[in-house]
Amino acid sequence: MPLRLGVLASGRGSNLQAIIDSIENKKLDATITIIVSNKSDAQALERAQQHGIKGMYLNPKSVIGESDPRKAYDQKILEVLKAHEVQLVLLAGYMKIVTSVLIEAYQWRMMNIHPSLLPSFPGLNGQQQALDAGVKISGCTVHFVTEGVDEGPIILQAAVPVHEGDSVDSLSARILEQEHRLYPQAVALFAAGRLSVEGQKTKILEPAS
Ligand code: GRF
Repeated sequence: MPLRLGVLASGRGSNLQAIIDSIENKKLDATITIIVSNKSDAQALERAQQHGIKGMYLNPKSVIGESDPRKAYDQKILEVLKAHEVQLVLLAGYMKIVTSVLIEAYQWRMMNIHPSLLPSFPGLNGQQQALDAGVKISGCTVHFVTEGVDEGPIILQAAVPVHEGDSVDSLSARILEQEHRLYPQAVALFAAGRLSVEGQKTKILEPAS
């Protein structure tokens, strides 16, 4: 049975596209059962439509007035994910910080991709942070989601050189190319049952022979 994925995305959705492509090219044995966005105009929702995948906009304003709006919003997302029998949640350019509601329900079953070599440069603008620090190598990281922002157990990383004269755009493009390669790989490892979290670390198990 293909792994059932749920994707949370806020914007462009190029990482979502990389996952869709891997599935369509039969490199990834998975199916995306739902894409949820907190932005009505997210390109990710257009991509969903183009590929016949169910997309849903959940208005963050719908929970204003709740005692804990952020948790109330995540509760709504959780209901949608459960209704679509999602087994693995992928954050793909999702610009909201997820709360314990989702993290506990999907512990070690929710991944994020970040455009730096964590634990360096977490949070917003990882590429700008790398340029500001003058590092010579940067990259991207796929990790499991925990309550600390960009802090969960690292699954896979890819490095890219930082060139003299790089702009945020040129470095971001170089990193993005690796993101598109790395995220489907991480999902494939999960689908194959090859990821095991031990303490703060993710162990990659040998393939079953
Ligand atoms: C990517 O750089 C990803 O690492 C970060 O947000 C960006 C999303 O891009 N979390 P896209 O929406 O997948 O094109």
